[in-house]
Amino acid sequence: MKKRVLTGIRPTGPLHLGHYVGALENWLNLQEEYDCFFLIADYQALGDYIDDSQRIRESVIEVTKDWLAVGLDPEKSSFVIQSHVPEHAELTLLLSMLVPLSRLQRNPTLKSEMEALGTEKVSLGFFNYPVSQVADILLPKADLVPVGEDQKPHVELTREVARKFNETYGEVFPIPDVKVGRVPRLVGIDGTLKMSKSRNNSIYLKDDADTVKSKVMQMYTDPTRKSATDPGHIEGNPVFDYHDHFNPNKDEVKDLKDRYVAGKVGDVEVKEKLATALNNFLEPIRQRRAEVESNPNLVKDALEAGTAREKKIAEETMKQVRDAMKLSSYTS
Ligand code: TRP
Repeated sequence: MKKRVLTGIRPTGPLHLGHYVGALENWLNLQEEYDCFFLIADYQALGDYIDDSQRIRESVIEVTKDWLAVGLDPEKSSFVIQSHVPEHAELTLLLSMLVPLSRLQRNPTLKSEMEALGTEKVSLGFFNYPVSQVADILLPKADLVPVGEDQKPHVELTREVARKFNETYGEVFPIPDVKVGRVPRLVGIDGTLKMSKSRNNSIYLKDDADTVKSKVMQMYTDPTRKSATDPGHIEGNPVFDYHDHFNPNKDEVKDLKDRYVAGKVGDVEVKEKLATALNNFLEPIRQRRAEVESNPNLVKDALEAGTAREKKIAEETMKQVRDAMKLSSYTS
């Protein structure tokens, strides 16, 4: 039997280049070797958008289209809508008994997200989302969790909870490993730490060629450089970061860097070449997306089949969990 992967995404909007190099690229490779469950975490998204469930509903479809467009294959992998397998919620409740409050308060990712939200705005549901993520991973008994860097603490928590469950109630769960993507954190086009929907600094997988070009031309570069003849800085310059990550022509990148440092190339040329590289990278994804758009059944079929498949596995796991925790039927 193949080993299992579970990973997921909150459906809050379209996916961007940061998702690709931080996560999707890894998933594409893993789907050849592993039995993969790709989760659309709509329960979890409610923690961010409690008053905008329509946005979540639309994003479930958007995310699925992006997945199909990059080449995730529903014939090989299971696409799962979290809320359509309510066992996710039941397992979250049961596992939350095993997690000390103080343990969650120390989770660095949760901590910074709560600070960003403002402590008064944090709901109990949001606070508990790392535990729901633990349940997501353990429900199909995943062996490996490929995620972005910021999600590592949640996988660490998963390992602890799985161990504690097994010690307390008997061996049910494997202890999953984590795998972080090639580019743990892709800077935004504005030069801030991370590409993120909420900061409006993203290049989306579905952006057309003109949009990509205009976003690249507005990109933040070396702020100390006033003209094309000033020597520029490569380090911490997002334009060159993107060249490194997305431009397969390494000679071109090296030539641009050499000339930039020497004050022998203008920003326009560097950016135009980046726009071309990004558009070459995105073009096949756009083409597949257009095919998906013209055949809406692809999305529906992928979600139905994957969700039904996980549901079966979830029922088996929950039977084991209820038995282990002595919650199973009193009549048999
Ligand atoms: N927190 C992840 C994100 O925001 C989504 C997610 C939910 C997830 N459940 C998961 C990721 C389980 C990995 C494993 O993108």
